[in-house]
Amino acid sequence: MARIFSGIKPTGHLTLGNYLGAIRQWVEVDQHRADSLFCVVDLHALTVEHDPARVRRLSRQAATLFLAAGLKPDLCTLFLQSHVDEHTRLSYLLECTATDGEMRRMIQYKEKSARERAAGKSVRLSLLTYPVLMAADILAYGADEVPVGDDQAQHLELTRDLAVRFNQRYGHTFTVPKAVLPAVAARVMDLQDPTSKMGKSHAEASGIVYLLDEADVVRRKIMRAVTDSGSEVAYDREKQPGVANLLEILAACRGGGSKPADLAADYSSYGALKRDTADAVVETLRPIRERHAQVCADPGYVDEVLRDGAERARRLARPTVDAAYQAIGLLPAG
Ligand code: AMP
Ligand code: TRP
Repeated sequence: MARIFSGIKPTGHLTLGNYLGAIRQWVEVDQHRADSLFCVVDLHALTVEHDPARVRRLSRQAATLFLAAGLKPDLCTLFLQSHVDEHTRLSYLLECTATDGEMRRMIQYKEKSARERAAGKSVRLSLLTYPVLMAADILAYGADEVPVGDDQAQHLELTRDLAVRFNQRYGHTFTVPKAVLPAVAARVMDLQDPTSKMGKSHAEASGIVYLLDEADVVRRKIMRAVTDSGSEVAYDREKQPGVANLLEILAACRGGGSKPADLAADYSSYGALKRDTADAVVETLRPIRERHAQVCADPGYVDEVLRDGAERARRLARPTVDAAYQAIGLLPAG
């Protein structure tokens, strides 16, 4: 059976982008067909200025939302990254495999470090080495597939390069994983700025649909989405990014192989497209919000799921990481 690993950082409330780009595939497909591990990658939330209490709160909320979205602990393994030491143990060996130049070429590093500097902040070293920890997350479990949104494609390429290089230098140790991107909505854009990704850590919330937004808030955000000049509804990401984004969201929420370009033909006005998109999103999120309230009512359950998940994850990762320690030239502890 294929092994799948994926993760989400607790840096903000989860968004429609996280759901359509990643979580939905985990719930509907992955957990049923593969040995799947889904992780709240909390260590990754420490790469930029953070409030410890908020990280704690968001980590628990992300795990609760995983369950609310439909991940089932009897079908997959859910856990927090910091509960399993193998991630950081392996990360150091991969730091000894990656190069400084490779790290500095990562688009997310370039963008985020520029943003931090522009805000007069210093850049944490972990922001630079973050893709190596991500590679460790994946390689520790011998994952074959990594379902992610399009923004992670470059990090996955790096992960593959590191696995191949390590294997060539020190003997076969790691499975070389591949990224699996969703067919539509691999990159959901901000409703107020459809040329940038809908990201949970953006300060301005009006362009972001959060999974726990009330129905009327979701509607208001979508009805106020920036569309393009002109009035024709066409699927053209370059010339009409706002409309294209709504068409993608609508197609993704409708599911069943719906295609944004086909849906465009059904609309002659932006207003009607927005209304239908708002309805589709509200319907998609409704069961998640309802189940979230139920899961929240039993915090002991979430803790238990995470405890069991971490135990299984440790058992799986340990032998691979031990093998890497030996292969690279470190003596076993005896
Ligand atoms: P992050 O929020 O950066 O921790 O991302 C967690 C997962 O959600 C990754 O697989 C991302 O690729 C995916 N993701 C995040 N934002 C979006 C978005 N706007 N559109 C599609 N996928 C996304
Ligand atoms: N870097 C990913 C993001 O920002 C989160 C992540 C960390 C991840 N480790 C991972 C995703 C391993 C998939 C597999 O979205």
